[in-house]
Parts: sequence; structure tokens; C-alpha cells
Amino acid sequence: MLKIIVLMGAPGAGKGTQARLLRERLGLPHISTGDMFRAMKESHTPLAEELRLILDSGVLVPDELTIRVVEERTSKPDCRNGYVLDGFPRTPAQADMLETLAAGQGHPLVAVLVDVPFDILEKRVTGRRNCPVCGEIYNVYFKPPKFDEVCDLHPSAKLHRRADDNAETIKTRLATYGQETQPLIEYYERTSRLRRVDGTRGVEAIYADIENAVTGDK
Ligand code: AP5
Repeated sequence: MLKIIVLMGAPGAGKGTQARLLRERLGLPHISTGDMFRAMKESHTPLAEELRLILDSGVLVPDELTIRVVEERTSKPDCRNGYVLDGFPRTPAQADMLETLAAGQGHPLVAVLVDVPFDILEKRVTGRRNCPVCGEIYNVYFKPPKFDEVCDLHPSAKLHRRADDNAETIKTRLATYGQETQPLIEYYERTSRLRRVDGTRGVEAIYADIENAVTGDK
């Protein structure tokens, strides 16, 4: 299967959770622009400081930088057989760039919307915790670790809470998603490349639909 899988959905919809399963089970690289920016903001450079302010407020990183980061990552040899994009594209300029990239690489593109109503996203986001070692995603309400605040696989690692996972910033993230990214859903629908999955169910039921959508001919 030589495909670019674009996982779309609001903040907390479950894109990262599903992308990790696609990586494990289909062997496709998981490219998360959010994860890449969070890693970049940890260095001690003026760019890192700028990124920290942007990410912590919930607005978007400028297109120029985002596009450069994706171009660089997708040019690596592990992307030759396709890849999973988590959180990209988010603007029309990013979607345009992806069309050019996909055409150049000869990969068809399928967009999957993990559909979750806004009113249940807050608990998903405020309850999220991540392992700083393996990146495993937990949730204190829906997927708690066996022992409080530590990873099941790395017991010495205290789980981390993202700086933008708070009730205030989530409002900005949702508004940004509505204004900038939701129009792209119509764009992929118009071009017959959108698959919708109901993201309110259990993780495995959602995954089964996604795998079916990206490996089938429909
Ligand atoms: P990014 O990291 O992409 O964040 P996001 O889009 O807000 O999405 P999240 O990571 O919050 O949620 P998710 O859908 O991955 O959900 P998850 O699987 O973790 O972006 C962060 C920032 O980076 C942006 O605000 C922006 O500043 C910048 N950025 C990134 N990409 C950019 C771009 N292209 N252009 C410009 N700027 C960009 O799940 C959430 C929680 O729910 C977890 O706790 C999980 O355990 C739980 N959960 C998952 N599935 C289920 C389920 N089925 N049932 C119950 N709980 C579930």
C-alpha cells in the first residue's frame, strides 16, 4: 500500500492515538507536526522561544516553517512507501503543498476524519498524559495508567501533561480548528478523498474503520 494517510480531527479527537496504531500495525511512519514542534521548542534558540509562545497559546505555527518541516521529514527514505500525517495539513496553503508533494512522490492521498463532537473533547484534552520516554498516550478519565501518573511500560517515567492541555487554551485551539482547518474537510470531500469515522467509540472500533478505509478501495 503506497499511500499518504491524512488524519484529520479536532484537538483531542484521537489522531495521535490512531496514528500510533497505524504505525505499529501497518508499518507506516507517523509524522506529527505537533510532536515535531514540541521537540523543537525544547532547544535554547530564538525559534524555540517563538514556538513555545505559539504552541502554548493554541494558534498555528506559520505555514512557511510548517511546510519546510514536513518537506524535510517526508523526503526521508522511510517515507518511500507512504506515511501517516497527524495534524497536517491545517490550512489551504499546507493542503496545496501536500498536493504537489503527493503528485511528485506518486502517492495517492486519503483523508480520514476522526469525528468527535466538540462537547466531549475537553475531557479528552484535559485528561491526557504522555510518557516522556515512549510517547504512549494515556487519559486519566478514559485510559488511566496502572499506577498514578507513571507509564505502564516505563515505571520510572513520570507522565507529562502538555502545556496547551488546559481549559483556556483548548478554546483557542478549537476556534483555530474551526476557522482554519475545518474548510479542508469540505475540500477533501469535494475531491472524493474523505472518509469519516465515528470517533466517539472505543479505540479499537475506530481503528478497524480507519484500517478498512485506508486499505480498501472505497
Ligand atoms: P497537535 O499536537 O497536532 O495537537 P491537536 O491537533 O490539538 O491534537 P491533539 O494532539 O491535542 O489530539 P489528538 O487528536 O492527537 O488526540 P490524542 O490521540 O492525543 O498540535 C499542537 C499545536 O502544534 C497546534 O496547536 C499548533 O500550534 C501546532 N501545529 C501542529 N501542527 C500544525 C500545522 N500543521 N500547522 C500549524 N501549526 C501546527 O487523544 C486525546 C486524548 O483522548 C488522550 O488522552 C487519549 O488517550 C484519549 N482518547 C483517544 N481516543 C479515545 C477514544 N476513542 N475514547 C476515549 N478517549 C480517547
